Amino acid sequence: MIKHIEETVEYLRDKGFESPEVGIILGTGLGQLIDDVDIIKQVSYNHIPNFPTATVEFHKGKLIYGKLSGKKVIVMQGRFHLYEGYSLQDVTYPVRIMEKLGIKTLLVSNAAGAINLNFKKSELMLIDDHINLQGKSPLAFRGVELLGERFTDMSAPYDAEINSQFESIAKQNNITLHKGVYVSVLGPQLETRAEYRMLKLIGADAVGMSTVPEVIVANHLKLKVAAVSVLTDECDPDNLEPINIEDIIANAAKAEPNMITLFKELIRTL
Ligand code: HPA
Repeated sequence: MIKHIEETVEYLRDKGFESPEVGIILGTGLGQLIDDVDIIKQVSYNHIPNFPTATVEFHKGKLIYGKLSGKKVIVMQGRFHLYEGYSLQDVTYPVRIMEKLGIKTLLVSNAAGAINLNFKKSELMLIDDHINLQGKSPLAFRGVELLGERFTDMSAPYDAEINSQFESIAKQNNITLHKGVYVSVLGPQLETRAEYRMLKLIGADAVGMSTVPEVIVANHLKLKVAAVSVLTDECDPDNLEPINIEDIIANAAKAEPNMITLFKELIRTL
């Protein structure tokens, strides 16, 4: 993997991806942040050596380098999911690349279902902690110790300082920002009623199919991390309606302006 990483990093440096400070992973329906980035360079994933190739159709699959709120940023427009058949090493490969290019902070967004029924559709939730229910780790491979500590500490995977900044920005801008535990599942099927009951019992406030692998690897690399979920559906096992992916995307889009405000203002403070 080390050789692959070096090749990819060299390619991107040659393309002008010089010393970015912040990495941003954009989730489902949150792509509009890109309109606020002064783009310096962009490359399709399928042109980047050793990058997994984007498959989910509503993801554009581009790595973008530019300036946002006065900082040099790399934005992943479209991420890789375990449910698309990628390995966890593939899913998290871009995080390793962004770290090698120089980022110190990783900001992540995603779409998630609200398990905590005090949280409503199209509201946002700051991830305070997580539960990994994907059944595997992105660090479980031979040679991981050459890239960082094998037994990575996860006592505080989300940066407390960034999170309190997020909370004060939300307050100043009248944005509802819940805080809670995100549980990652494999997907791509949604959960059964019994599964939603279980997820609530084990302490989850929101459920989704991403983010945790990237956050684990970011911790492996000692990056500062923060993540925000847009809640796209209410997972009430006693009144569960069939899910509709168009609704999920529409609900994510409704929250997008708030998500963009949070990210732009937060980056200014870094
Ligand atoms: N479950 C899993 N992933 C999701 C959900 C959900 O209810 N909503 C959005 N992503």
